[in-house]
Amino acid sequence: MSLQVRGKLVRILPLFLLLCLLSLPAWAGHDHAREGKPAILLVAFGTSVPEAAGVYASLESQVRAAFPDMEVRWAYTSHIIRRKLAGLGQAVESPAAALLRLAEDGFTRVAVQSLHHIAGEEFHDLMHTARALQGMPDGPHVVRVGLPLLASAEDARRVAEALLASAPKARRKGEALVYMGHGTPHPADLTYPAMQHILAQADPLAVLGTVEGWPGLDEVVATLKKNKVKRAYLLPLMAVAGDHARNDMAGDDPDSWKSVLTKAGIEAVPVLQGLAGNPAVAAVWVDHLRTVMEKL
Ligand code: CO
Repeated sequence: MSLQVRGKLVRILPLFLLLCLLSLPAWAGHDHAREGKPAILLVAFGTSVPEAAGVYASLESQVRAAFPDMEVRWAYTSHIIRRKLAGLGQAVESPAAALLRLAEDGFTRVAVQSLHHIAGEEFHDLMHTARALQGMPDGPHVVRVGLPLLASAEDARRVAEALLASAPKARRKGEALVYMGHGTPHPADLTYPAMQHILAQADPLAVLGTVEGWPGLDEVVATLKKNKVKRAYLLPLMAVAGDHARNDMAGDDPDSWKSVLTKAGIEAVPVLQGLAGNPAVAAVWVDHLRTVMEKL
């Protein structure tokens, strides 16, 4: 180093140190929120039924079309399904693991879209996870969670419209559409009677019941009998036609919905298609994602 250059450095150094000191307060309290790349994390309950998983792919392509060039990843909330898939060599991460890995990969602003149907236990758990990881030293800086499918009366109306528009073409007058939702002991179970009300307003023979909540199968059968229904299509009000749809709804066990309806003198026609594969329904999830993307 020449003496001249050294002399210049000596002159610049105090100025440099002063600048560092001046910027320290801003740096110490630096807002990381706007740093890092954004990403989308789609969070579903999960399924281990391979045919059912195809509708997740359809939903994903809808998300990719709406948000081109964005990193899109998946996580499943069901521990049992994750373990089953891991055993098959098809591991899918939990929301917490996926969020940490996204941060590790430089995606520090994450829009998490819940692919649940109601703001029940699974959704609340997801909110907890998001809040706990946001701002953790190695976690993402910003995590925002999009609302589940049925988060407003407007959502319910859009979903009802989408369901009725895609009802089986073979349906004749007097034949019913029976939708099977999951149901839950969580207070959000009240979403289902609201959805039922909106469905029935649009089509009096569109009936909703749930496996684990209210209204249940008894209420469905009572409504069908009251309306002298002889034939009903059974459709899952679930993202995928997985285990509940295949067994509880369309299975051959004596307590399946198909068997119970048949016993009640109503011909039951199961339709195994999940909501995530219905573009007009998926659009509601995509719009909820759009809302959080705007705030990311
Ligand atoms: Co279940």
